[in-house]
Amino acid sequence: MTSGYRFSFPPYPIGWFQVAYSDEVKPGDVRPLQYFGKELVLFRSDTGKVGVLDAYCPHLGAHLGHGGTVVGESVKCPFHAWQFDGSGTCTEVPYAGKIPKAAKIRPWEVRDVNGLIMVWHHPNGDAPTWEIPEFPETTSDEWTEYVVRRWKIRTRNQEMAENAVDCQHFHYLHGTPNHPTATIDPKGHIFNSVLNTAMETPMGPVEGQVHAQMYGFGFNVTRFTGLVETMLVNSVTAIDEEYVDARFAFKVKKDGGADIAKGIGRAFVQEITRQVEQDMPIWENKKHVKPPILAEGDGPISQFRRWCRQFYADPNAIP
Ligand code: FES
Ligand SMILES: [Fe+2]
Repeated sequence: MTSGYRFSFPPYPIGWFQVAYSDEVKPGDVRPLQYFGKELVLFRSDTGKVGVLDAYCPHLGAHLGHGGTVVGESVKCPFHAWQFDGSGTCTEVPYAGKIPKAAKIRPWEVRDVNGLIMVWHHPNGDAPTWEIPEFPETTSDEWTEYVVRRWKIRTRNQEMAENAVDCQHFHYLHGTPNHPTATIDPKGHIFNSVLNTAMETPMGPVEGQVHAQMYGFGFNVTRFTGLVETMLVNSVTAIDEEYVDARFAFKVKKDGGADIAKGIGRAFVQEITRQVEQDMPIWENKKHVKPPILAEGDGPISQFRRWCRQFYADPNAIP
Protein backbone atom coordinates (compact mmCIF):
# COMPACT_ATOMS: atom_id res chain seq x y z
CA MET A 1 0.00 0.00 0.00
CA THR A 2 1.35 3.45 -0.80
CA SER A 3 1.83 5.92 1.98
CA GLY A 4 -0.16 8.61 0.11
CA TYR A 5 -3.02 8.31 2.57
CA ARG A 6 -0.76 9.71 5.30
CA PHE A 7 -0.57 13.14 3.65
CA SER A 8 -3.03 15.82 2.57
CA PHE A 9 -0.58 17.47 0.18
CA PRO A 10 0.92 16.33 -3.14
CA PRO A 11 4.29 14.56 -3.31
CA TYR A 12 6.02 16.98 -5.70
CA PRO A 13 6.10 20.62 -4.61
CA ILE A 14 7.29 23.65 -6.57
CA GLY A 15 10.93 24.69 -6.18
CA TRP A 16 14.62 23.97 -6.74
CA PHE A 17 15.75 20.45 -5.89
CA GLN A 18 19.19 18.87 -5.86
CA VAL A 19 19.84 15.98 -8.25
CA ALA A 20 23.62 15.58 -7.75
CA TYR A 21 26.75 17.23 -6.41
CA SER A 22 28.66 19.18 -9.07
CA ASP A 23 31.86 17.17 -8.62
CA GLU A 24 30.04 13.89 -9.24
CA VAL A 25 29.41 14.84 -12.87
CA LYS A 26 32.53 15.57 -14.91
CA PRO A 27 32.56 16.78 -18.53
CA GLY A 28 31.50 13.82 -20.67
CA ASP A 29 29.55 12.08 -17.88
CA VAL A 30 26.00 10.83 -18.43
CA ARG A 31 23.87 9.38 -15.68
CA PRO A 32 20.27 8.29 -15.17
CA LEU A 33 18.14 10.02 -12.50
CA GLN A 34 14.85 9.04 -10.89
CA TYR A 35 13.08 11.99 -9.31
CA PHE A 36 9.52 13.37 -9.14
CA GLY A 37 8.21 9.97 -10.23
CA LYS A 38 10.03 10.37 -13.56
CA GLU A 39 13.03 9.01 -15.44
CA LEU A 40 15.56 11.73 -16.30
CA VAL A 41 19.04 11.96 -17.78
CA LEU A 42 21.80 14.21 -16.46
CA PHE A 43 24.91 15.00 -18.49
CA ARG A 44 27.79 17.44 -18.55
CA SER A 45 28.90 18.58 -21.99
CA ASP A 46 32.52 18.67 -23.13
CA THR A 47 32.62 22.41 -22.30
CA GLY A 48 31.22 21.78 -18.79
CA LYS A 49 27.56 22.72 -19.19
CA VAL A 50 25.08 20.61 -17.26
CA GLY A 51 21.90 19.41 -18.94
CA VAL A 52 18.89 17.55 -17.53
CA LEU A 53 16.30 16.10 -19.91
CA ASP A 54 13.41 13.67 -19.71
CA ALA A 55 15.11 10.33 -20.19
CA TYR A 56 13.31 8.68 -23.10
CA CYS A 57 14.44 9.25 -26.65
CA PRO A 58 11.51 10.42 -28.82
CA HIS A 59 12.74 8.22 -31.68
CA LEU A 60 12.12 4.70 -30.37
CA GLY A 61 12.26 5.17 -26.64
CA ALA A 62 15.74 4.28 -25.43
CA HIS A 63 16.73 5.65 -22.01
CA LEU A 64 19.49 8.19 -22.65
CA GLY A 65 20.89 7.68 -19.15
CA HIS A 66 21.73 4.03 -19.83
CA GLY A 67 24.48 3.94 -22.43
CA GLY A 68 24.13 7.52 -23.69
CA THR A 69 27.39 9.39 -24.36
CA VAL A 70 28.38 13.05 -24.65
CA VAL A 71 29.34 14.47 -28.04
CA GLY A 72 30.27 18.14 -27.78
CA GLU A 73 27.26 19.91 -26.27
CA SER A 74 24.86 17.01 -26.79
CA VAL A 75 24.04 13.61 -25.41
CA LYS A 76 24.00 10.80 -27.96
CA CYS A 77 21.38 8.06 -27.74
CA PRO A 78 22.92 4.57 -27.51
CA PHE A 79 20.26 3.00 -29.77
CA HIS A 80 20.51 4.85 -33.15
CA ALA A 81 22.87 7.75 -32.31
CA TRP A 82 20.46 10.67 -32.43
CA GLN A 83 21.87 13.61 -30.46
CA PHE A 84 20.12 16.12 -28.16
CA ASP A 85 21.55 19.26 -26.56
CA GLY A 86 20.74 20.71 -23.14
CA SER A 87 17.68 22.50 -24.54
CA GLY A 88 16.30 19.13 -25.69
CA THR A 89 16.76 20.04 -29.37
CA CYS A 90 17.79 17.21 -31.68
CA THR A 91 21.11 18.28 -33.18
CA GLU A 92 21.93 15.21 -35.24
CA VAL A 93 20.36 12.18 -36.89
CA PRO A 94 23.51 10.71 -38.43
CA TYR A 95 21.88 8.61 -41.19
CA ALA A 96 19.14 11.03 -42.31
CA GLY A 97 19.26 14.16 -44.41
CA LYS A 98 16.66 15.92 -42.32
CA ILE A 99 16.00 16.08 -38.57
CA PRO A 100 12.29 15.42 -37.90
CA LYS A 101 10.62 18.55 -36.53
CA ALA A 102 9.03 16.78 -33.59
CA ALA A 103 12.38 15.35 -32.43
CA LYS A 104 12.57 17.19 -29.15
CA ILE A 105 12.91 16.21 -25.50
CA ARG A 106 11.58 18.15 -22.56
CA PRO A 107 14.44 20.07 -20.90
CA TRP A 108 14.62 20.88 -17.20
CA GLU A 109 15.91 24.20 -15.85
CA VAL A 110 19.28 23.42 -14.22
CA ARG A 111 21.64 25.41 -12.00
CA ASP A 112 25.14 24.43 -10.97
CA VAL A 113 25.58 26.48 -7.79
CA ASN A 114 27.21 26.04 -4.37
CA GLY A 115 28.66 22.73 -5.56
CA LEU A 116 25.16 21.36 -6.12
CA ILE A 117 23.28 20.57 -9.31
CA MET A 118 19.70 21.74 -8.87
CA VAL A 119 16.64 21.43 -11.11
CA TRP A 120 13.47 23.48 -11.04
CA HIS A 121 10.30 21.48 -10.54
CA HIS A 122 6.83 22.90 -11.17
CA PRO A 123 3.90 20.49 -11.56
CA ASN A 124 2.50 22.63 -14.42
CA GLY A 125 5.87 23.18 -16.08
CA ASP A 126 6.00 26.89 -15.17
CA ALA A 127 9.37 28.70 -15.34
CA PRO A 128 11.41 29.48 -12.19
CA THR A 129 10.18 32.46 -10.18
CA TRP A 130 13.26 32.67 -7.93
CA GLU A 131 16.87 31.53 -7.77
CA ILE A 132 19.21 29.91 -5.23
CA PRO A 133 21.94 32.46 -4.38
CA GLU A 134 25.62 31.57 -4.28
CA PHE A 135 26.93 31.38 -0.71
CA PRO A 136 30.45 32.75 -0.07
CA GLU A 137 31.40 29.77 2.13
CA THR A 138 31.06 27.41 -0.83
CA THR A 139 33.85 29.07 -2.81
CA SER A 140 36.08 30.21 0.06
CA ASP A 141 39.37 28.57 1.10
CA GLU A 142 38.59 29.49 4.69
CA TRP A 143 36.07 26.69 4.85
CA THR A 144 36.58 22.93 4.62
CA GLU A 145 35.31 20.91 1.68
CA TYR A 146 31.86 19.38 2.04
CA VAL A 147 31.57 16.27 4.16
CA VAL A 148 28.45 14.52 2.92
CA ARG A 149 25.78 12.20 4.29
CA ARG A 150 22.80 10.82 2.40
CA TRP A 151 19.56 9.02 3.26
CA LYS A 152 16.59 7.60 1.37
CA ILE A 153 13.57 8.28 3.56
CA ARG A 154 9.92 7.23 3.24
CA THR A 155 8.39 10.68 3.67
CA ARG A 156 7.68 13.95 1.84
CA ASN A 157 9.50 17.27 1.67
CA GLN A 158 7.11 19.22 3.85
CA GLU A 159 7.27 16.73 6.69
CA MET A 160 11.07 16.96 6.90
CA ALA A 161 11.00 20.75 6.64
CA GLU A 162 8.54 21.03 9.53
CA ASN A 163 11.16 19.50 11.84
CA ALA A 164 13.04 22.82 12.00
CA VAL A 165 10.15 24.65 13.68
CA ASP A 166 9.02 21.76 15.87
CA CYS A 167 10.69 23.13 18.99
CA GLN A 168 9.74 20.48 21.54
CA HIS A 169 10.98 17.42 19.65
CA PHE A 170 14.60 18.55 20.06
CA HIS A 171 14.43 17.79 23.75
CA TYR A 172 12.08 14.81 23.82
CA LEU A 173 13.27 12.97 20.72
CA HIS A 174 16.86 14.18 20.35
CA GLY A 175 17.63 14.74 24.00
CA THR A 176 18.98 18.28 23.68
CA PRO A 177 19.49 19.68 27.16
CA ASN A 178 17.28 22.71 26.58
CA HIS A 179 13.88 23.33 25.02
CA PRO A 180 14.83 25.63 22.12
CA THR A 181 12.68 28.54 21.06
CA ALA A 182 12.40 29.67 17.45
CA THR A 183 12.24 33.20 16.11
CA ILE A 184 10.97 33.16 12.56
CA ASP A 185 10.81 35.57 9.66
CA PRO A 186 9.17 34.13 6.53
CA LYS A 187 9.89 36.30 3.46
CA GLY A 188 8.35 35.09 0.21
CA HIS A 189 9.89 31.72 -0.67
CA ILE A 190 12.53 32.03 2.10
CA PHE A 191 11.74 30.91 5.63
CA ASN A 192 14.27 32.38 8.06
CA SER A 193 14.48 31.01 11.56
CA VAL A 194 16.80 31.38 14.52
CA LEU A 195 16.87 28.67 17.14
CA ASN A 196 18.77 29.01 20.37
CA THR A 197 20.01 25.59 21.27
CA ALA A 198 22.85 23.60 22.71
CA MET A 199 24.95 21.03 20.90
CA GLU A 200 26.66 18.04 22.49
CA THR A 201 30.44 18.11 21.94
CA PRO A 202 33.42 16.28 23.44
CA MET A 203 33.69 19.28 25.77
CA GLY A 204 30.10 18.99 26.93
CA PRO A 205 27.09 20.94 25.64
CA VAL A 206 27.97 24.12 23.75
CA GLU A 207 25.44 26.92 23.62
CA GLY A 208 24.88 28.31 20.20
CA GLN A 209 22.50 29.76 17.69
CA VAL A 210 21.17 27.98 14.67
CA HIS A 211 20.29 30.24 11.76
CA ALA A 212 18.34 28.38 9.14
CA GLN A 213 17.16 29.58 5.76
CA MET A 214 14.82 27.35 3.82
CA TYR A 215 14.54 28.17 0.14
CA GLY A 216 11.29 26.34 -0.43
CA PHE A 217 11.26 22.69 0.60
CA GLY A 218 14.19 21.49 -1.46
CA PHE A 219 17.08 23.51 -0.15
CA ASN A 220 18.07 24.61 3.32
CA VAL A 221 21.18 26.36 4.64
CA THR A 222 21.85 26.16 8.37
CA ARG A 223 24.64 28.09 10.05
CA PHE A 224 25.62 27.16 13.57
CA THR A 225 27.52 29.84 15.43
CA GLY A 226 28.99 28.88 18.76
CA LEU A 227 32.48 27.72 19.55
CA VAL A 228 33.21 27.13 15.86
CA GLU A 229 31.35 28.32 12.80
CA THR A 230 29.74 25.48 10.93
CA MET A 231 27.51 25.32 7.90
CA LEU A 232 25.10 22.67 6.74
CA VAL A 233 23.60 22.64 3.28
CA ASN A 234 20.79 20.17 3.10
CA SER A 235 18.57 19.23 0.25
CA VAL A 236 15.55 16.97 -0.05
CA THR A 237 14.34 15.77 -3.44
CA ALA A 238 11.26 13.62 -3.99
CA ILE A 239 12.08 10.33 -5.71
CA ASP A 240 8.49 9.21 -6.05
CA GLU A 241 5.29 9.37 -4.01
CA GLU A 242 6.88 7.20 -1.31
CA TYR A 243 10.48 8.29 -0.90
CA VAL A 244 12.74 11.34 -0.77
CA ASP A 245 16.50 11.58 -1.31
CA ALA A 246 18.01 13.63 1.54
CA ARG A 247 21.55 14.97 1.18
CA PHE A 248 23.39 16.76 3.99
CA ALA A 249 26.70 18.54 3.26
CA PHE A 250 28.75 20.05 6.08
CA LYS A 251 31.47 22.70 6.14
CA VAL A 252 33.49 24.08 9.05
CA LYS A 253 35.38 27.36 9.13
CA LYS A 254 39.06 26.49 9.31
CA ASP A 255 40.29 29.33 11.53
CA GLY A 256 41.33 28.26 15.01
CA GLY A 257 42.52 24.98 13.54
CA ALA A 258 39.00 23.61 13.24
CA ASP A 259 38.84 20.50 11.14
CA ILE A 260 35.75 18.67 10.04
CA ALA A 261 37.54 15.37 10.67
CA LYS A 262 38.04 16.08 14.36
CA GLY A 263 36.93 18.07 17.38
CA ILE A 264 33.91 20.32 17.09
CA GLY A 265 33.63 19.76 13.33
CA ARG A 266 33.22 16.03 13.75
CA ALA A 267 30.90 16.48 16.72
CA PHE A 268 28.66 18.70 14.60
CA VAL A 269 28.42 16.16 11.79
CA GLN A 270 27.81 13.33 14.27
CA GLU A 271 25.16 15.26 16.15
CA ILE A 272 23.14 16.19 13.07
CA THR A 273 23.50 12.63 11.71
CA ARG A 274 22.31 11.22 15.02
CA GLN A 275 19.29 13.54 14.96
CA VAL A 276 18.31 12.59 11.40
CA GLU A 277 18.51 8.91 12.30
CA GLN A 278 16.26 9.53 15.30
CA ASP A 279 13.80 11.48 13.15
CA MET A 280 13.67 8.80 10.45
CA PRO A 281 11.39 6.24 12.15
CA ILE A 282 9.05 9.09 13.09
CA TRP A 283 8.94 10.48 9.54
CA GLU A 284 8.60 7.06 7.92
CA ASN A 285 5.56 6.11 9.97
CA LYS A 286 3.80 9.31 11.04
CA LYS A 287 0.81 10.86 9.34
CA HIS A 288 0.25 14.53 8.69
CA VAL A 289 -2.28 15.77 11.26
CA LYS A 290 -4.30 18.65 9.93
CA PRO A 291 -5.10 20.78 11.74
CA PRO A 292 -2.81 19.68 14.56
CA ILE A 293 -3.74 20.05 18.22
CA LEU A 294 -1.03 22.40 19.46
CA ALA A 295 0.03 23.45 22.94
CA GLU A 296 1.96 26.44 24.23
CA GLY A 297 5.69 26.04 23.48
CA ASP A 298 5.22 23.92 20.35
CA GLY A 299 6.80 26.58 18.15
CA PRO A 300 5.62 28.36 15.00
CA ILE A 301 4.11 25.30 13.31
CA SER A 302 0.96 27.09 12.12
CA GLN A 303 2.96 29.96 10.59
CA PHE A 304 5.22 27.43 8.91
CA ARG A 305 2.25 25.63 7.36
CA ARG A 306 0.84 28.89 6.02
CA TRP A 307 4.21 29.54 4.34
CA CYS A 308 4.04 26.03 2.82
CA ARG A 309 0.96 26.79 0.72
CA GLN A 310 2.90 28.71 -1.96
CA PHE A 311 4.76 25.53 -2.98
CA TYR A 312 1.72 23.68 -4.23
CA ALA A 313 0.16 24.34 -7.60
CA ASP A 314 -3.01 22.46 -6.71
CA PRO A 315 -5.41 24.78 -4.86
CA ASN A 316 -7.00 21.74 -3.23
CA ALA A 317 -3.75 20.86 -1.50
CA ILE A 318 -4.07 21.84 2.12
CA PRO A 319 -0.74 21.75 3.89
S1 FES B 1 15.79 5.39 -29.76
FE1 FES B 1 17.20 6.99 -29.55
S2 FES B 1 18.06 7.19 -31.48
FE2 FES B 1 16.62 5.63 -31.71
FE1 LIG C 1 14.63 16.36 14.35
